[in-house]
Amino acid sequence: MNQTQFIERLPKVELHLHIEGTLEPEMMFSLAQRNNIQLPFATPEAVKAAYEFTNLQSFLDIYYQGANVLIHEQDFYDLTWAYMLHCQQDNVIHTEIFFDPQTHTARGVEFATVVNGIDRALQDAQQQLGITSRLIMCFLRHLDEQSAFETLEQAMPHQDKIIAIGLDSSELGHPPEKFERVFAKAREAGFLTVAHAGEEGPVSNITGSVTLLNVSRVDHGVRCSDDAQLVAELAQMAMPLTVCPLSNTKLKVFAEMEQHNIVELLRQGVKVTINSDDPAYFGGYMNDNFLAVAASHQLTQQELTQFTRNAIEASFISEQEKHALTAQLEEFMRQYFGH
Ligand code: ADE
Ligand code: ZN
Repeated sequence: MNQTQFIERLPKVELHLHIEGTLEPEMMFSLAQRNNIQLPFATPEAVKAAYEFTNLQSFLDIYYQGANVLIHEQDFYDLTWAYMLHCQQDNVIHTEIFFDPQTHTARGVEFATVVNGIDRALQDAQQQLGITSRLIMCFLRHLDEQSAFETLEQAMPHQDKIIAIGLDSSELGHPPEKFERVFAKAREAGFLTVAHAGEEGPVSNITGSVTLLNVSRVDHGVRCSDDAQLVAELAQMAMPLTVCPLSNTKLKVFAEMEQHNIVELLRQGVKVTINSDDPAYFGGYMNDNFLAVAASHQLTQQELTQFTRNAIEASFISEQEKHALTAQLEEFMRQYFGH
């Protein structure tokens, strides 16, 4: 087995995936037609040609526009089911998925429509594909605190389907302290918390997310390398970072994959994981992200395996479920190394 086959067959766990970011241009067109929505593009190819981003905001503008085709519960089901088939293809055995309710409720789509469509597909995927999952609701940080409080209120009847609260969208100018109170309320209600930080924004957003929002994981976090002391602290406290390599190069966080710091962070003992973020927009799902990192850095198979070990540890499942995933990984290693 060569390294490409090793990566393809390696059991993987995804912890940073926006379901709206899995909307492929072909599905965007079919849903637009089904829902009678005009798109500002003539063909799926024209959509793909528009995916040339200069920074996070240039991506977000197109990403929110694309989400307009999602109207009915079945649309959210179809979107999620298509992603779960990609998981099956890439040997992703467990996935923790973000959704952005405000993107939809602001257009008049009911919160329940969104969450029920996603959840039904996740239940079917567990039964039919054997892939487990959790759901994380994100607040859009460019919107105000009041809107986040209202969204948390809407989530309360669906707490059985949502494990954690996250924070995404435009990082610059919207620091974690803006959401300190609403995160405190969410934790009181029993939600775990995560937050995007240190993607484009400063290291103070990483420390703020840890100290003010009490996050269990930092999403991205790659700018931590601006502060060697912080890197040491993240390693020491075993704070997981959900890193998204293809996203980071597409959004110019790093100019080239060769300059990406994920392997350096791994070797500094930081609990880094590999994830796909918005795969329909950034050129690849989990295997493509692993392959891109492996093509630009010298990685041992033990190191590649460590990304899955880190993701299992950082996941929001029970100890029993973690043991079951670890057993799947061990079984793969036994078959691979023959002992
Ligand atoms: N929403 C979807 N993808 C995102 C990213 N990479 N950063 C911030 N918000 C996002
Ligand atoms: Zn993200």
